[in-house]
Amino acid sequence: MIKAPNTRAEALQRDAADPLADRAALFDLPDGVTYLVGHSLGPPPKGARDRLAAAQADWAGDLVRSWNSASWIDLAERTGDRLASLIGAQPGEVIVADSVSVNLFKLAAAALPQARTYALFVEEDEFPTDQYIAAGLGGLSGAEVRLLAPGGSFEALRAGGVVIKSAVNYRSSEVTDIAAHEREARRQGALIIWDLSHATGVLNLKLAADGAVLAAGCTYKYLNGGPGAPAFVFVAGELSPKLATPLPGWMGHAAPFAFDGKYVPRDGVARFASGTPPILSLAALSGALEAIEGVDLGQLQAKARALGALAVARAQAMGLDVLSPVEDGRRGGHVSLRIAEGYPVVQALAARGVMADFRAPDTVRFGFSPLFLSYQAVWNAMAALAEILESRSWDQPQFHARAKVT
Ligand SMILES: Cc1ncc(COP(=O)(O)O)c(C=O)c1O
Repeated sequence: MIKAPNTRAEALQRDAADPLADRAALFDLPDGVTYLVGHSLGPPPKGARDRLAAAQADWAGDLVRSWNSASWIDLAERTGDRLASLIGAQPGEVIVADSVSVNLFKLAAAALPQARTYALFVEEDEFPTDQYIAAGLGGLSGAEVRLLAPGGSFEALRAGGVVIKSAVNYRSSEVTDIAAHEREARRQGALIIWDLSHATGVLNLKLAADGAVLAAGCTYKYLNGGPGAPAFVFVAGELSPKLATPLPGWMGHAAPFAFDGKYVPRDGVARFASGTPPILSLAALSGALEAIEGVDLGQLQAKARALGALAVARAQAMGLDVLSPVEDGRRGGHVSLRIAEGYPVVQALAARGVMADFRAPDTVRFGFSPLFLSYQAVWNAMAALAEILESRSWDQPQFHARAKVT
């Protein structure tokens, strides 16, 4: 167990010894805000703003020539290569494209013919899009789709199909043992598509060492790429030649500017590109990655878990129901609490400058992005939560009004 600071003074001591403390200066965050929603939408790193401005200048200056002069045409691959080092993969195994939803679809369709059986499995507590995509693909492809009880993926590997599974569960923050699942998958002729949305940029992922071969993930959470930043696809080098994308667009063609009627896929993961890359979003993401590059990923994970341990300890002291694993090694970067009146509580926290999020019906999530948060900030946020609950100040009409996005 990580020893959490027990007093504000101890939190300050931890900040003084924090090897990542200087990274906070790389972010633009409003004064007076404690941002505990980096697991949903990361805040803007200054590098993102700068690269976005540079891309806009290229657009205005060199116009269409920028595809060549600013190498826009390679940006999705170059950004993918940089991302590879953050997930324990090799350059050439990651490309940035589309959304996680679309990438899960492409990977699952490509994986089905490679697995021992033509069946798709997903747990019923997975992020809804993962379940919808599996069901939709099942309808199109004729693959059998089985919804599993939470935690049922390991057992399901025996059936030899394709499993879609999160490395960190979006609601509970429970971490999955990637290596153990991959060993079993190999024994059973099954394939696993890892959803790395809540793991990338916060855990010390080692995909190659753990035997993972397929993954998709998000860049707008802990990678701070910006709202709607494009997602990524990972395919292990040895597997990609065997895979065919179900969305063979021109950007996945070996020679897109030959305008040939016959589709010839590009080598490697790049075949999973479909249409024109979103250059402005990619530019922002590319600048955002500068805030994490050069960080020791072991230290990154350790700090996220230590901030989480602080929140868990404070929540337990308040007598709250902690939904996330209490054991640090089993938890990702966020901590979820079950609070029946969670929605107004989150609004009351926001009114005090502490931003968290709410997932219906009763889950309040606090994200601990290790690049810009301090122990002191988390200590103060938990103290604010204690005061709000004790005084019941959340029970005011303005905190009950529901917005579209929670
Ligand atoms: C675990 C998980 N998977 C998938 C998604 C959906 O990603 P996208 O909107 O890029 O399709 C999310 C979004 O938050 C998520 O948390």
